[in-house]
Amino acid sequence: MIVLGIESTCDETAAAVVVDGKEILSNVIASQAKLHEKYGGVMPELASREHLTQIGPVIEQALSEAGVTRDELDLIAAAQGPGLVGAIMVGLNTAKGMALGLGIPLIGVNHVEAHLYAAVMSAVEIPYPALGVVISGGHTSLLRVDGIGQYTLLGSTVDDAIGEAFDKVAAMLGLPYPGGPEVEKLARQGNPLPFKPGRVKERPLDFSFSGLKTQVLYAIKENPNKADVAAGFQETALQDLVDHVTLAAESFPCRAILLGGGVSQNGRLRELLQGAGLGLPLFWPGKGLVLDNAAMIAGLGYHRLQIEGPSPLDIPPKPRLAAFLS
Ligand code: KG4
Ligand code: ZN
Repeated sequence: MIVLGIESTCDETAAAVVVDGKEILSNVIASQAKLHEKYGGVMPELASREHLTQIGPVIEQALSEAGVTRDELDLIAAAQGPGLVGAIMVGLNTAKGMALGLGIPLIGVNHVEAHLYAAVMSAVEIPYPALGVVISGGHTSLLRVDGIGQYTLLGSTVDDAIGEAFDKVAAMLGLPYPGGPEVEKLARQGNPLPFKPGRVKERPLDFSFSGLKTQVLYAIKENPNKADVAAGFQETALQDLVDHVTLAAESFPCRAILLGGGVSQNGRLRELLQGAGLGLPLFWPGKGLVLDNAAMIAGLGYHRLQIEGPSPLDIPPKPRLAAFLS
């Protein structure tokens, strides 16, 4: 089954062609990061307009790189949410138009579930049950995963997502957007200041990053060494994540750990998790599948079609679509 995936939930316009949920024929991503950089974050209206300009050429490029014509497509998968409503509409409406015009099914896909699927897609086989760890700009979630589409939420953040905390700390330090990779770079030159991780009362698997952010704010006022502040924040946030992962993995007969979302490309996190002595295989998203992309949308779309059948052509964009409710 040849699937065209379309992603436009935030500031990447992306299209990809994937066969049977696994074999990536093309994976085209047009990033808008430069456009939003001077605002220190994504400007929703600008994002929607840029998606409109990019979506046609990006799809054309994905088809041509894959060597596939429109008539050969079997399914169109599009990210339905969560994300920015105007941005989602561009990709989703394009997908609807193509599905209608070509007479093939449409499937709406959950962007967060797709981040997790990126690790599954990159592996030969995943032993289940596994612990899913989604760490992106919008989500910080721990889940028990019993198979594709079978999730139990174990913990999530009560305030900022971990990637969002990286972006906000970067802004406080005067670093450009997106901040995660910039904080990681700066942290390498510093000696970590001792910050305290956030705790959520009686909910050990939930996260809180707002207190850590406040400590960073005060530290910047008192300590002119930005690298030490960056290193302190990163070390505290990532060690906190590793502690949560360890605890969650002990809460059921876990056989593997799946990671997904932008923060999973952080090199220090990879070191900390590998050194944590978990005794479980770690599955990371492969190259081109870590940040927002459409290959993960196309890949998951293939499986969701088997699980739930095609989506009606009038499915709405779901900016607040909850992750993993089904
Ligand atoms: O998964 P993603 O591309 O988009 C969302 O669905 O949010 O994740 C983007 C997030 C941003 O917050 C970005 O700062 C963060 O991932 N990020 C990182 C790194 N690279 C990207 N955070 C920490 N270290 C990194 N190297
Ligand atoms: Zn994402």
